[in-house]
Amino acid sequence: MKFFIDTANLNQIREAMDLGILDGVTTNPSLMAKEGIRGEENVKKHYIDICNIVDGDVSAEVISTDFEGIIREGKILADLHPQIVVKVPMIREGVKAIRHLTQEGIRTNCTLVFSAGQAILAAKAGATYVSPFMGRLDDISTDGVELIAQIVDIYRYYEFDTQVLAASIRHTMHIIQCAEVGADVVTCPLQPILGLLRHPLTDSGLEKFLADHNKK
Ligand code: G3P
Repeated sequence: MKFFIDTANLNQIREAMDLGILDGVTTNPSLMAKEGIRGEENVKKHYIDICNIVDGDVSAEVISTDFEGIIREGKILADLHPQIVVKVPMIREGVKAIRHLTQEGIRTNCTLVFSAGQAILAAKAGATYVSPFMGRLDDISTDGVELIAQIVDIYRYYEFDTQVLAASIRHTMHIIQCAEVGADVVTCPLQPILGLLRHPLTDSGLEKFLADHNKK
């Protein structure tokens, strides 16, 4: 399972890289705005900065919602850096654009996916990744991990190449649940990733080992 970090914060991306487990980055317009990155040129520069920090794929989201606009924006984003994957919303025009961009050799991440039906369409259109938002489903009392499992099963059954990128992850249990059901990728903020490290028995065990070693 690949680990992506879901942020536009360069320090957090560096910290996750430094841990040695980072496979890529996802961003969205809200995450860019949170870092104060505004204006087309600043946004483009920020994506390049992110690509220069990580080795893997970096999802950059279009803000157009019409076919021509998504294609135009997608090509500009894809031209920025070979690591860029164009993030396209799961809407009618988005599905058409994913098919078109795929035929032109541009990799895509179909975002804002909340159902198995949407995931099937994304795969049929040729998306490189599909991003089901598990946390936002949990927020409305719907089982997010069940959707991840359902999509994984369908994709395996039909041998779709599209990778299941579990998004909107809120805590460490989400990461573990995604691993249990075979998600290809999890994208999450830094804290849930660091949360995987912690166990009180590790801390107390290490404390005892070091104390015994230092006994005179
Ligand atoms: O990048 C898409 C997704 O991960 C957003 O997460 O926490 O805003 O639901 P969240």
